[in-house]
Amino acid sequence: MAQHVCPWWVGYILASPLRKLVQNPIKILKSYVKPGMTVLDVGPGMGFFSFDAARLAGDGGRVICVDLQEKMIESLRRRAARKNLAERIDGRVCNESSLMLDDLAGQVDLALTINVAHEVPDLPRFMAEIHRALKPDGRLFMIEPRGHISVDDFANTVDVTRQCDFSLVERPEVRRSRAAVFVKG
Ligand SMILES: C[S@@+](CC[C@H](N)C(=O)[O-])C[C@H]1O[C@@H](n2cnc3c(N)ncnc32)[C@H](O)[C@@H]1O
Repeated sequence: MAQHVCPWWVGYILASPLRKLVQNPIKILKSYVKPGMTVLDVGPGMGFFSFDAARLAGDGGRVICVDLQEKMIESLRRRAARKNLAERIDGRVCNESSLMLDDLAGQVDLALTINVAHEVPDLPRFMAEIHRALKPDGRLFMIEPRGHISVDDFANTVDVTRQCDFSLVERPEVRRSRAAVFVKG
């Protein structure tokens, strides 16, 4: 596993319910995730944002969660089952050279990259794979941690994303974070 990737045990800390005091996924996502949507959560860790995305997507929706680390996805699946969300959550393990999303081409309404872009060595490749998975009017909601990512670093990440055929449409306020929403094309 590459050095830059968040260790699997940090997943337990990131999934702590106490984090909702600072970042409440329902409040953050409710304007973007609607009933029936197909959501792609890339780098979900143990699912802190994925479960509330699944609640907002409702019975007719689904959330595909793709992470490099098997231990993250194993825990995410167990938690999804305990929360009665297993039918809406599809946990998948990918690898460092591919997100392995070919079966999703053109199907995703909203992609989430939350605290993951700074861990990705080849951001253009990563964004191109997400782009392919999105519907023609699909959106990408990117959040990065303010503590690790400077204003300049985030501006650079936004620029790279725009160069991958995404248009910046919004800069939402997310506590302790830098955030941007893009539309495909
Ligand atoms: C800092 S954690 C964030 C977890 C979650 N999104 C959150 O905010 O709580 C970053 C996650 O992204 C995953 N990750 C890193 N690089 C990745 C890649 N290239 N493809 C998929 N997942 C990746 C890591 O394994 C880790 O679970």
